[in-house]
Amino acid sequence: MTLTDAPSDGGNPFEDDDAILNQAIQALGRLEIGDGEGRGALEQVVDAYRRRLLARRRLLGVQGLVRLEINDLWEEIARQSAEIERTGEELEQTRKGLIQAEQMAVLGGMVAGVAHEVSTPMGVALTAASYLAEQTQALRRVVAEGRIRKTEFDDYLKVASEAADVIQANARRAAELMHGFKRMAADQTSSERRIFNLRHLLDEVLISLSPRLRQGGHRVSIGCAETIEVDSYPGALSQILTNLIMNSMQHGYDRGQSGVLQISVREIDPDQLELYYADDGKGVPIGHQKHIFDPFFTTRRNEGGTGLGLHIVSTIARNLLKGSVALEPLEKGTAFRVCFPRGQISS
Ligand SMILES: Nc1ncnc2c1ncn2[C@@H]1O[C@H](COP(=O)(O)OP(=O)(O)O)[C@@H](O)[C@H]1O
Ligand SMILES: [Mg+2]
Repeated sequence: MTLTDAPSDGGNPFEDDDAILNQAIQALGRLEIGDGEGRGALEQVVDAYRRRLLARRRLLGVQGLVRLEINDLWEEIARQSAEIERTGEELEQTRKGLIQAEQMAVLGGMVAGVAHEVSTPMGVALTAASYLAEQTQALRRVVAEGRIRKTEFDDYLKVASEAADVIQANARRAAELMHGFKRMAADQTSSERRIFNLRHLLDEVLISLSPRLRQGGHRVSIGCAETIEVDSYPGALSQILTNLIMNSMQHGYDRGQSGVLQISVREIDPDQLELYYADDGKGVPIGHQKHIFDPFFTTRRNEGGTGLGLHIVSTIARNLLKGSVALEPLEKGTAFRVCFPRGQISS
């Protein structure tokens, strides 16, 4: 990039002036000797002209140098701007990558949570099935020995039908959990919009987090009508709730301390829903409050904090749910209010 052109080398920009000066010097030489006064005056003029010409030459040289310097500076500025732009792009890529990693971590946490939850009914069903197998084996032996009594057979029937009930109920529970999880995982990865029951979604999120909640000794209270249907992005909502709950567990309580997490849903008007979430932990210090939604703001950098959890919450609340999220004042603990439209539900 050039601001001004550097002086062209080669051609003499003072050619005309040099010619005039030479003519004047020659004219001076041709002057009649004796005209002392006139000659002295002319010599002075020629000398002054020569000096001015010299000064202009120097000035032109300096200008040329300055122009070269300016050109160098422009090049440096252009180089640095390109560098800043590239760094900005790299930073944006890193931010996106980290957000994806954070989302995958949430999904990973859900897998672990649901796997853990499913293991309980599966374990119960397996115990009942083993017991049934044992009892059946025993009955088979008695029948083979030909000494079966009616009361024994009745007892067996009772045990068998009880075991079948237990197996059925627990297998159904496991299937429900798996079904809920499959849908939640699909919602998470596809960001698809669909009509869903809000209370069921909240329950599913809590199931996926329940091993961690139990481990920390935290209790959760949900206030949400069973009947609220929403046409929105379930993956986005479950991610928001997951991030808020994870934050409460990570930042709200000291090790060994447990709390109560409160979730309540309210219909603000026919089209708007409000999800209020609060923990009764340490709270966010006033000085941090205006920064917590900023990307990379974390008070746990050395303990694996990325500072992206709440940034993701506010981005998806705005961009996907077309709603808002705000930190709410609370005397003890941390609270958030998430507002979002219910979508087009035909009732
Ligand atoms: N429930 C909470 N209680 C106390 N502090 C919180 C809570 N939620 C968030 N914070 C604060 O906000 C910061 C940003 O949270 P977040 O964006 O999820 O990043 P990270 O969890 O990786 O630190 C946290 O580092 C913490 O200081
Ligand atoms: Mg977080």
